[in-house]
Amino acid sequence: MAPVTLRTTRLVLSIPTEADIDPITEAAQDPEVPRWTTLPSPYARQDAEDFIGKAADRWDAETELTWGIRADDRWVGMLGLHRVERGGSAEIGYWMAAAARGHGYLTEAARSVIDFAFDTDGLDLKRLTWRAVVGNIASGRSARALGFRYEGLLRQGLEGPRGRDDGWIAGLLATDDRMPRAWPVLED
Ligand SMILES: CC(C)(COP(=O)(O)OP(=O)(O)OC[C@H]1O[C@@H](n2cnc3c(N)ncnc32)[C@H](O)[C@@H]1OP(=O)(O)O)[C@@H](O)C(=O)NCCC(=O)NCCS
Repeated sequence: MAPVTLRTTRLVLSIPTEADIDPITEAAQDPEVPRWTTLPSPYARQDAEDFIGKAADRWDAETELTWGIRADDRWVGMLGLHRVERGGSAEIGYWMAAAARGHGYLTEAARSVIDFAFDTDGLDLKRLTWRAVVGNIASGRSARALGFRYEGLLRQGLEGPRGRDDGWIAGLLATDDRMPRAWPVLED
């Protein structure tokens, strides 16, 4: 499919481009990124270049839809839908540049992607899945704020370039009301 641009009050979400290569490379140096995601570490400029090229191919094939999150025309984070099956399900993933965290950008951006994912004129999905390495409180709180409901523990269920990890899994259905519910693994 052709890349889709989404707009929120403060943000523009659009396909990552060559202009984003340097800010992506810089942001990926934060150890919290490889700690919780499958991004390569060490992360070189070439990794960002490769990713940009693949992102375009994957939009084309409609398998993985990636948006660069932009505030004031600057790239501040990445948000993607993986394993997209139009009319079925997909998995959401995200990471933000450290300097842009804590402003509510991620939840604002993700709400617009979720709206698009469930819209019958968008991807018409019935379910979104979220998974994270056990202990990723910031990601869990983000998912909970978006309305995802905790579904359980995946013992050694996550596989990445640095090995296997226990995982948390949560889900959001198109028919859910998106009101945050308590998660047994998050304290407040
Ligand atoms: C997860 C991440 C994208 C959240 O980005 P953010 O810009 O801080 O998110 P927001 O400002 O929209 O806040 C979303 C929620 O996360 C919570 N949060 C953010 N940082 C937190 C932290 N360090 N500890 C605890 N909660 C945190 C916020 O309080 C908010 O929850 P609330 O609505 O219940 O108060 C960011 O921390 C990140 O990039 N982490 C490293 C990569 C990563 O873990 N990606 C996810 C892999 S599954």
